Amino acid sequence: MSFKEQLKGRDLLTLADYSKAEIGYILELAAQIKEKKKNGEVYEPLKGKTLGMIFEKSSTRTRVSFEAGIYQLGGTGLFLSSNDIQLGRGEPISDTAQVLSGYLDGIMIRTFSQKDVEDLAENASIPVINGLTDDYHPCQVLADLQTIKEVKGTLEGLKLTYIGDGNNMAHSLMIGCAKMGLDVAIAAPKGYQPNENITALAKSFAEGTEVLVTEDPIEAVANADIIYSDVWASMGQEAEQKVREQAFAKYQVNNELFAHAKSDAIFMHCLPAHRGEEVTADIIDGPQSVVFQEAENRLHAQKALMVALMG
Ligand code: CP
Ligand code: NVA
Repeated sequence: MSFKEQLKGRDLLTLADYSKAEIGYILELAAQIKEKKKNGEVYEPLKGKTLGMIFEKSSTRTRVSFEAGIYQLGGTGLFLSSNDIQLGRGEPISDTAQVLSGYLDGIMIRTFSQKDVEDLAENASIPVINGLTDDYHPCQVLADLQTIKEVKGTLEGLKLTYIGDGNNMAHSLMIGCAKMGLDVAIAAPKGYQPNENITALAKSFAEGTEVLVTEDPIEAVANADIIYSDVWASMGQEAEQKVREQAFAKYQVNNELFAHAKSDAIFMHCLPAHRGEEVTADIIDGPQSVVFQEAENRLHAQKALMVALMG
């Protein structure tokens, strides 16, 4: 079976469900789609198709890149805020899934619980794409891998170090890196380390590479090609901001920490960022930062994903 046949109609709930070769295929397609756009080529394989985008949390990048992306592919995107659809008033996810399957060709959902995304996918007859949950952010990691490949020319043999909260980003990065042949190190304080089951899952995907979880940022950063950070308080954790600022005080990505990585290490961040908290302005706005290339690649990677799943 070709990758095209293999991926058609599939959901993307977590990268754990995709093989290394399937992720590689999507990244290759993303590079081609990016090239077409740069050349001004019209490419509309999803003409007449509609993507529904359910948001229970805020978004700039995910919302705009999916909506612009489906439009550029010849289709239409519908922004469905959970405040405005009946889901927000208690209509069951299973009913929503069945109803939307009659109208749409794909659903992207950003919400809190991974279980809700699984339930939506279980009950929908069209592809469901996870646009971020408390556990995972797979679309971000597709764009991250595309960016690393562009900048470093390869994925295999590199080391990515993530500094901060063991959150959705840490989880998806561990899985994505383990699958694609990168060493991955996570430095997080006690009480904020990645979920143990997800860490074990990531380790099960690693073939000869390392998945390290430590409390020590300096140990984690040694020999790193990529240093990655994310906010200390994710969406839904705003009330914990002050407590987290204390817990993560030693986990700021700054010049001092950066000096322990390889001299050509790059800085990545999924954004939005808080300058002066998880990263200093001179790092995120400095010459080794690729955060805006990374943000742009959300568009290209997700166009590839939509073509693969909804084409
Ligand atoms: N990185 C990311 O998903 O950004 P948004 O929250 O703006 O979608
Ligand atoms: N960990 C962050 C990522 C935002 C893209 C959050 O969940 O808010």
